[in-house]
Amino acid sequence: MRAAAWSDTGSDTPPGAWVVRDETLGAFVVSGYDEAARVLREPGWSSDPRRIAGRSLAVPPGVLLFLDPPDHTRLRRLLSPAFTPRAVGRLRPRVAAIVDTVLSGLFADADEADLMAEAAYLVPLAVIAELLDVGAEGARVFREHTPGLVRMLEAVPTAEDVERGAEASQEVMMFLLPLLVERRRAPGGDFVGALAATDGLSLEELLATCVLLLAAGHETTANLIGNGASALLRDRAQIERLHADPARAVEELLRAEPPVRLAGRVALTDHELGGVRVPAGSRVVVRIDAANRDPRRFADPGRLDLSREPLPHLAFGGGHHYCLGAALARLEAAETLTRLFGRFPDLAPAAPEPRRRTSTTFNGWATLPVRARRSS
Ligand code: HEM
Repeated sequence: MRAAAWSDTGSDTPPGAWVVRDETLGAFVVSGYDEAARVLREPGWSSDPRRIAGRSLAVPPGVLLFLDPPDHTRLRRLLSPAFTPRAVGRLRPRVAAIVDTVLSGLFADADEADLMAEAAYLVPLAVIAELLDVGAEGARVFREHTPGLVRMLEAVPTAEDVERGAEASQEVMMFLLPLLVERRRAPGGDFVGALAATDGLSLEELLATCVLLLAAGHETTANLIGNGASALLRDRAQIERLHADPARAVEELLRAEPPVRLAGRVALTDHELGGVRVPAGSRVVVRIDAANRDPRRFADPGRLDLSREPLPHLAFGGGHHYCLGAALARLEAAETLTRLFGRFPDLAPAAPEPRRRTSTTFNGWATLPVRARRSS
């Protein structure tokens, strides 16, 4: 049995092939930890897909993820105060209440459930809907359109991905626009009010940011919860370690089962990376999943060990695009997983077999059937 039997995302990179040219992708694929960290952290690499030589791509304006310095620096500085660990810490009671409400509904009518649809997707959806103060109608709109929205983030998008992504983004923007216009007139003191009142943030940037928060924060966090629950169901001995130190446990789950597999970059100048020449204008795909299992960096990388001494994994990226929502995602995952296994100690996999999500970018479960006896 492979050590990583609980996963199908382990790196299959042969030793030495940490940077390779993939003609099908039209990109250099970076699988080594040090090489990936260099691309993410050092200057000379762009996040703007329009810089890929010989390609003409449309990129929506004002989206942090696709901006380079100095535009990125300016926008990121405006948005950062809302996402510091301290600001997010203040959300803990609300996140805990949301998790409790979701878990109260789980197994309410039956002793079997799909953990993805009935818990993992619901927690981040409710959190983001509350942060953006969009009410029940907003939560419905978000729920309907997130699956389309995240198709925009596929590393190898099909024509249908592009079309569905654009449609979903349009729907979400049409819903949010009047709410945000009103918030800029009368902000209020909550999360979205603080964003709307940020000096120097244009309406276009505010709108793009809210759509990005939904696209970047929903699917990813749902996958962290689902991947974490699945890993623990297959390795129950580690549930104790989750309860002993939830924060550390979540780091190892992020390392071993990163919800985002890839990050895209473009070489701005000629680079030498892992002994390979990467010319300016080349597309580069950073394999976060492979880097997180680089044996040169992580001992016995295929083994899930929730008490592993934390090392800097790349699940949230690195450098100036490091995930803005990292503290929030960690909080949601720790609250959900500890409360899930605390409330349902006999939680177990159920039939049929879980189904993996098909995506080049996201690593997660489409369905995760589970059963438990409801606690009284
Ligand atoms: C950026 C992963 C949750 C908002 C990123 C990046 C990664 C990532 C890898 C960097 C992409 C790159 O460098 O190209 C994750 C994972 C999450 C998660 C694994 C959950 C487990 C969230 C949440 C939010 C969020 C909850 C907000 C509500 C963002 C934003 C960026 C970002 C705004 C862009 C930052 C920038 O470009 O400066 N995320 N994310 N993410 N994430 Fe997350």
